[in-house]
Amino acid sequence: MDTLKVAVIGLRFGMAHIEGAMGCGAEIAAICDSDEENLRFAGERYGIPEEKRFKDYRALLARGDIDAAVVAVPDQRHREISCAFLEAGKHVLCEKPMALTREDARAMIAAADESGRRLMVGQICRFTPAFEKAKALVDAGALGDLYFLESEYAHDYMKIVDNWRADPLRHGVIGGGCHAVDLLRWLGGDPVEVFAYGTKRLLPQVPYDDATVAVLKFDDKTMGKVFVSTGCKRDYTMRTVLYGTKGTLICDNTSPTMTLFTAGEDGMAHEPELLEVEVNNHNAKREFESFAEAIRDGAPVLTDAREGAKTVEVCLSIIESAAAGRPVRPDYAF
Ligand SMILES: NC(=O)c1ccc[n+]([C@@H]2O[C@H](COP(=O)([O-])OP(=O)(O)OC[C@H]3O[C@@H](n4cnc5c(N)ncnc54)[C@H](O)[C@@H]3O)[C@@H](O)[C@H]2O)c1
Repeated sequence: MDTLKVAVIGLRFGMAHIEGAMGCGAEIAAICDSDEENLRFAGERYGIPEEKRFKDYRALLARGDIDAAVVAVPDQRHREISCAFLEAGKHVLCEKPMALTREDARAMIAAADESGRRLMVGQICRFTPAFEKAKALVDAGALGDLYFLESEYAHDYMKIVDNWRADPLRHGVIGGGCHAVDLLRWLGGDPVEVFAYGTKRLLPQVPYDDATVAVLKFDDKTMGKVFVSTGCKRDYTMRTVLYGTKGTLICDNTSPTMTLFTAGEDGMAHEPELLEVEVNNHNAKREFESFAEAIRDGAPVLTDAREGAKTVEVCLSIIESAAAGRPVRPDYAF
């Protein structure tokens, strides 16, 4: 295949995608940001000439000479911009969370289906080295059967929240917590029921709970827990613990080691093993590589539109459970 020509829309976190795409040999054929200063900054930083810089994605699209777009604008605009590119026959890598409502997720699935193009949702934790290694250990049976999985999204939003992140639709469980939810879905499957509690103690700027804990039922033998705090007084991390019948794994996305406990035939635990792992909690290069491979080979993407929508569905179910004080069963009929 010829060099993939990519447009990147939204140039804050989108700059990580420019680097990811360039690192895979793709050509940055156009960039777009509605903010003139952000557009200029990214253009100069990556040497993108003036004629390839756009303030409006529609003008970029009208030019037509791109294969794919990365959509890294505020979550509320994911549907509009992703659908516009899909409808124009372009492949799309859209940032997480795919959407903030079921209606938007459904519209994006329909646009992807109708276009026959790839829509990948940027659930980047699936490319975090520690979590890739955790997935490989689980799949190889190193932990036996999982009976409890937990993950957390602990990220203090105190300084970054006074904008579109304060929208009530952009609850912390869907905005950032979708990383932990998606990780548990990847490792443990789709939960059939969730029950959650929330509190609001730390972030005066937002109308939603700033801490939520959710218990998940995967099946009769497997349970899970997600903890989300967007006001926590600590460094960002996603501590994750996987408990299986043959072993336990403790890992996160911010430390260079993970700890593996396994047991012998007699069921007695061995000394824990420390496994070294690269720290890269925003592995945009691997993520883009996976997107580009799917386009080149016509293969499915790991986090396609339905995968992205299922994660949205679990997040919304958790938010609804905490509000209603009762268990909620996610509906995966997309
Ligand atoms: N994968 C991750 O870990 C991760 C990390 C950070 C952000 N994100 C996601 O990336 C997206 C962007 O987040 P951010 O932190 O960069 O937000 P931000 O508010 O810092 O930046 C958004 C950028 O998009 C531009 N923009 C807004 N509307 C636009 C439009 N209609 N057309 C073109 N440009 C527009 C803004 O001017 C701004 O430069 C969000 O969906 C967010 O959830 C993901």
